[in-house]
Amino acid sequence: MSMITPPPEEPKKVKLGGRAFYESIGSPKKIVAPMVDQSELAWRKLSRRLGADLCYTPMLHAKLFATQEKYRRQMFDALDGEATSDRPLIVQFCANDPDLLLEAAKLVEDQCDAVDLNLGCPQNIAKRGKYGSFLQEDWELIYKLINILDKNLSIPVTVKIRVFPDREKTLAYAKMVLSAGAQILTVHGRTREMKGQQTGLADWSIIKYLREQLPSETVIFANGNLLYQEDINRCLEATGADAVMSAEGNLFNPALFVKPITYRNILPADQEDMDIMFPRMDHLLRDYFEILKTTPGEASQIAAKSHLFRLLRSFLPVHTDVRSEIAQINRNTKIEEFEKITVHVETIVKTLMADDTNRENDVVFRSSQALDASGAEYKTVPYWRAQPYFRPVNGQILFGGKRPLADKEETGGKEKEQKVQ
Ligand SMILES: Cc1cc2nc3c(=O)[nH]c(=O)nc-3n(C[C@H](O)[C@H](O)[C@H](O)COP(=O)(O)O)c2cc1C
Repeated sequence: MSMITPPPEEPKKVKLGGRAFYESIGSPKKIVAPMVDQSELAWRKLSRRLGADLCYTPMLHAKLFATQEKYRRQMFDALDGEATSDRPLIVQFCANDPDLLLEAAKLVEDQCDAVDLNLGCPQNIAKRGKYGSFLQEDWELIYKLINILDKNLSIPVTVKIRVFPDREKTLAYAKMVLSAGAQILTVHGRTREMKGQQTGLADWSIIKYLREQLPSETVIFANGNLLYQEDINRCLEATGADAVMSAEGNLFNPALFVKPITYRNILPADQEDMDIMFPRMDHLLRDYFEILKTTPGEASQIAAKSHLFRLLRSFLPVHTDVRSEIAQINRNTKIEEFEKITVHVETIVKTLMADDTNRENDVVFRSSQALDASGAEYKTVPYWRAQPYFRPVNGQILFGGKRPLADKEETGGKEKEQKVQ
């Protein structure tokens, strides 16, 4: 009688949790936030090239993703999460139905490292659809949404929250989210009400409080208020978080993350390299265009117009012809048109740099005054370079979006400024 040997069992993939998972994706420190229509593949590739070590997709609508193939194809295709060019990647969903969330998450679990639940979106559309921060009152539902992913996905579930005005309530909320199975907690230090003109500053002290109260094993990402490279260290020190996440700062200057992290060892100003930290628009647009050319997905095409408007926000008031060209972009715009805009900007900046006066003005100035309560510093950057983004505080945008000369006047002239390079 011959014995049939059973085939060897496939080794079971171990699902890592919390800190072990975080370490397995390289202990990222500099993270590109989930951004609707803005953290798509082409932008993630550019950000990764410039130092980001973890990216999130834009928020995907779980119900649409699970039920509509057209939406799915438009938002996430075979190149998203590709092993060599788009990892580590976390795919974010908004949802209010656990089964549909699981169905949607199952469709991406082989193309990403984790799935994130959005509990932070404060927009009216989220209010109408009851998702994002408008689930904040329904802890039972939140628990179910997280728990079903924790129990049934082969990859971890992570969660991004906004804070409550009350610390204790925020802590209880965070504990509930973690007990449901969240393996990483991203804390955006703003409340649901802080949006639009009321955006204001993110509160890093509440993130620090959570860090102190939660077990050290809990991995926490701090989100909010990053303008410059050195803010990364300030934020890590002020919060004790494992990593920082940036949205607006990254969109206006994707080189925000370009330098290696020197945690607790802030680089002296004179070591800053202007070309690396505040890239010229001609260089940045060329890099972005070359990536766009090889990233055919619809999401990248749709996002390009907003990216160009953001990147060139200080440039366009001076070169209004470029603004008109960007304004013409639509979903059917051919790649050749993007190239034309890129070449146009390249020509303008090269012409500017051929002029001695402009070359002399091609410097970044540091103001001696702190910008705001967060301690962020103000720098003037020539308009042909990537800019920091300033949020409205009490309905006012401080300094942001203005040209360097106007900024110098506002800060009281050169004597109040210290040349960086
Ligand atoms: C254009 C844009 C789109 C955003 N979309 C999302 C999103 O899809 N999911 C999410 O959780 N947060 C989203 N946010 C919020 C950011 O992820 C982040 O929490 C917030 O902007 C605060 O970070 P910042 O101060 O670095 O901008 C978005 C922000 C911006 C500016």
